[in-house]
Amino acid sequence: MSKITAAITGVGAYLPEYRLTNQILETMVDTNDEWITTRTGIKERRILKEEGKGTSFLAINAAKDLINKKGIDPKDIELVIVATATPDMKAASTAAFTATNIGATNAFSFDLEAACSSFLFGMSVASSYIESGKYKNVLLIGADKNSSFINYKDRATCIIFGDGAGAVLFEPNHEGLGLQDELLRSNGEGREFLQATYGGSSYPITADTFNEGKHYVFQEGKTVFKNAVFNMADVTERILERNNLTNEDISWLAAHQANKRIIEATANRIALDPAKVMMNIHKYGNTTSATLPLLLHDYESQLKKGDKIIFAAFGGGFTWGSIYLKWAYNS
Ligand code: UT7
Repeated sequence: MSKITAAITGVGAYLPEYRLTNQILETMVDTNDEWITTRTGIKERRILKEEGKGTSFLAINAAKDLINKKGIDPKDIELVIVATATPDMKAASTAAFTATNIGATNAFSFDLEAACSSFLFGMSVASSYIESGKYKNVLLIGADKNSSFINYKDRATCIIFGDGAGAVLFEPNHEGLGLQDELLRSNGEGREFLQATYGGSSYPITADTFNEGKHYVFQEGKTVFKNAVFNMADVTERILERNNLTNEDISWLAAHQANKRIIEATANRIALDPAKVMMNIHKYGNTTSATLPLLLHDYESQLKKGDKIIFAAFGGGFTWGSIYLKWAYNS
């Protein structure tokens, strides 16, 4: 019997309607469209404004998009993983709420948190469940409502992040398509450079820290930038080497959308044709766990069965890695 590989067999997405443009940000903080565009590549981001709606709202809608597109019965889904850095609530699983609300009543579910690498690491986890032979339908959702912990008075962070969600279904494949190889890493020494310090178990929020805005995300952009460029490019180059791939063999690079310059640096390291670099940061900004599935969603119609895709991500923690996957279907 041929080895079971784990293939992506469907994609869905959801983006909130409200568009926070660079022009609107100009009225909120001391910034300008030219700076944001040249330093990050971002033109606008989507923001979930409705009160009481959290990451699960984004995740549920992305999953429903996939379910409707593929015409699958949600009762056949066996596992729902919500990759997120912004769960709905403490103590209650966002994935459990999501799974029930999409009708995946036969599934077990859990959240997976690895900052901006959550979806990438989720691809590894989802694939392992499929490769084990135990499960045949694993739904992996990347969803983040970053606007819930952004300080819209801090120009160093509020220009970058947006809200959104993407979902993919993993199924067994017997033609050798799907996930081929992975190189995943983390280094906790990076934590001090990107974090929301208060509101977790180390430092619960107090009235004072709340008033000082210490529950908002803080980023030392330059340090994170340098580490992202070095590490994402490094693992991408290594995964090509160990799979005997040249830049000619690669169909697409799907890299975490944090900064256009970081994505271009990763592509340059392997001298990849810019036409093969997936890019949608201009439309959504950094949606953390949603960037990779949103790329697949936006480029799905251009993907062909057998396409060799290199995924790469870098995020808080630090966490980072690269995955080599062969696309399994024509749209
Ligand atoms: O997804 C998780 C991983 N995150 C990332 O990968 C993000 C990595 N970091 C970045 O993308 C970039 O560091 C930023 C986009 C956050 C910042 O870009 P930068 O080129 O590193 O700028 P900088 O922080 O070094 O600031 C350069 C200048 C400073 O002014 P001076 O000191 O040179 O006069 C800043 O005060 O730009 C100023 N500046 C701004 N100006 C206008 C910083 N933010 C802004 C702004 N608008 N929003």
